[in-house]
Amino acid sequence: MARGKKIYEGKAKILYEGPEQGTIIQYFKDDATAFNAEKKDVIDGKGALNNRLSEYFMTGLNQIGVPTHFLKRLNMREQLVRSCEIIPLEVIVRNFAAGSMSKRLGIEEGTQLTRPIVEYCYKDDSLGDPLVTEEHIAAFGWAAQQDMEDILSLALRVNDFLSGVMFGVGIKLIDFKIEIGRVYDGDFQRLVVADEISPDSCRLWDIETGQKLDKDVFRRDLGSLTDAYAEVAQRLGVLPRNATPMTKPTLIN
Ligand code: TMP
Repeated sequence: MARGKKIYEGKAKILYEGPEQGTIIQYFKDDATAFNAEKKDVIDGKGALNNRLSEYFMTGLNQIGVPTHFLKRLNMREQLVRSCEIIPLEVIVRNFAAGSMSKRLGIEEGTQLTRPIVEYCYKDDSLGDPLVTEEHIAAFGWAAQQDMEDILSLALRVNDFLSGVMFGVGIKLIDFKIEIGRVYDGDFQRLVVADEISPDSCRLWDIETGQKLDKDVFRRDLGSLTDAYAEVAQRLGVLPRNATPMTKPTLIN
């Protein structure tokens, strides 16, 4: 499928104009960054794995009635998505304490939370994506009250879906981040899950061993990131068991 003009290049993806009005081609790069791009590397195979894993999660969400921007995967690195206006928030859902929450509040990583906690960060790399409250979101007009109710409901539905899918393959969903976009059907606005859902944007721990199978492997230098992502893909049936993920992942379909 012919790509149009480049619209935007982020840290892990590039967006191109899609073949039809209202569509975008999302290209997954092999670049990995952490700590607001202070740590960087190129990890062979990461883009293809995230493309396929994000397709898997977004397709599942679409099938259970949680709307997403995902239309179809085009090839190893590209997917066709609906163009949407991204709300400038990172919506984080936590089931167990980890990462910045553990640091901020002094709670040991892995401590189970009594209920899922939803946090919002303002998407601005120059500020390091600061944590904000619903007061800031309302006062600065980033989202309306009705949007916030819809965002909360989407985030919790994604949490239930992803927690269940992961539990089914022996993985604990510690936390994750999603982004939400607005799509317009005429004058009518709908919110959809956008961007990507992949081990770049989740914390995933093996239920038995606690082994990390997500981007913390890169952030904390814990070993091979593609081995970790390939393990997730293999457990979900997205990648055959006998593939050699270190170099070129062989993806099913
Ligand atoms: P945190 O504990 O560092 O705040 O991260 C919470 C979750 O959000 C974790 O699953 C990783 C994900 N995340 C992103 O997807 N992008 C980011 O830029 C950051 C900082 C975290």
